Amino acid sequence: MSEDFKYTFRIKRYNPEEKGLKQAPHYVDYEVEGDADMTLLDGLNKVQSDDPTLAFRWSCRMGICGSDGMLVNGQPVLACSVFCKDVAKKKQGRLEIEVDPMRNMPILKDLITDIDDPMDKMRAVAPYLDRMDKDGPEDGPGKQSKKQLERIKKTSQCVKCMLCYSACPVYGQDKDFVGPAASALAYRYTADSRDDQGGGRVDKVIGKEDSVWGCSFVGECSVACPKRVDPAQAVQRLKVMGALRLVTKPISDMIKKRKKK
Ligand code: FES
Repeated sequence: MSEDFKYTFRIKRYNPEEKGLKQAPHYVDYEVEGDADMTLLDGLNKVQSDDPTLAFRWSCRMGICGSDGMLVNGQPVLACSVFCKDVAKKKQGRLEIEVDPMRNMPILKDLITDIDDPMDKMRAVAPYLDRMDKDGPEDGPGKQSKKQLERIKKTSQCVKCMLCYSACPVYGQDKDFVGPAASALAYRYTADSRDDQGGGRVDKVIGKEDSVWGCSFVGECSVACPKRVDPAQAVQRLKVMGALRLVTKPISDMIKKRKKK
């Protein structure tokens, strides 16, 4: 393999267990050589083979597991999905790549962030099909038409990398905001033709003050998403569902009451 390129990786290092000056987040420069096909993840693995104290997450190397989210020159990316030659910036005659941990989340160590809060938010939106009268294999597969599948296909692609939370300025200011990926997931199941929870999920998730209503539609989440889930669009659709529910729920409740009498 020819090593055509020489890069300087400026990596933010932080180890909460270290004492003294090094305890504060600080940058350390590493020289890395590689060819035109070297991804950022490849480069980080080269750094780690020289300095095993560097911590970062990764698993699949193909944009599927979503575990290697980080900032490259300030932009949220999956490290396995970008080539060094595409993100490097020429500075003082050298090719530099600045690598930081994701924003808006506590740093556990170096490039590893604590994603518990966004994960909890995703669990809270009831992210599963709730099929009231059909839950056994005897009911057969939940078939969908092409059109029904199209409605949820985009939002089904989420790999839970949390780059959208890192990009979201509203979540950065308000940790109670439900956030982009959890909203996309709520939309994905609410819009699924096989789901019977529909209105219930809307009431539980969208009806709350700190849910989708906090979104100011900056759209950075959709720019950051490596799978083109477009969470910003899902949030706006949920707002429409929530608004319709506000109008229709009192009417359907009233009809139910009358039927009982
Ligand atoms: Fe799995 Fe990058 S290593 S998404």
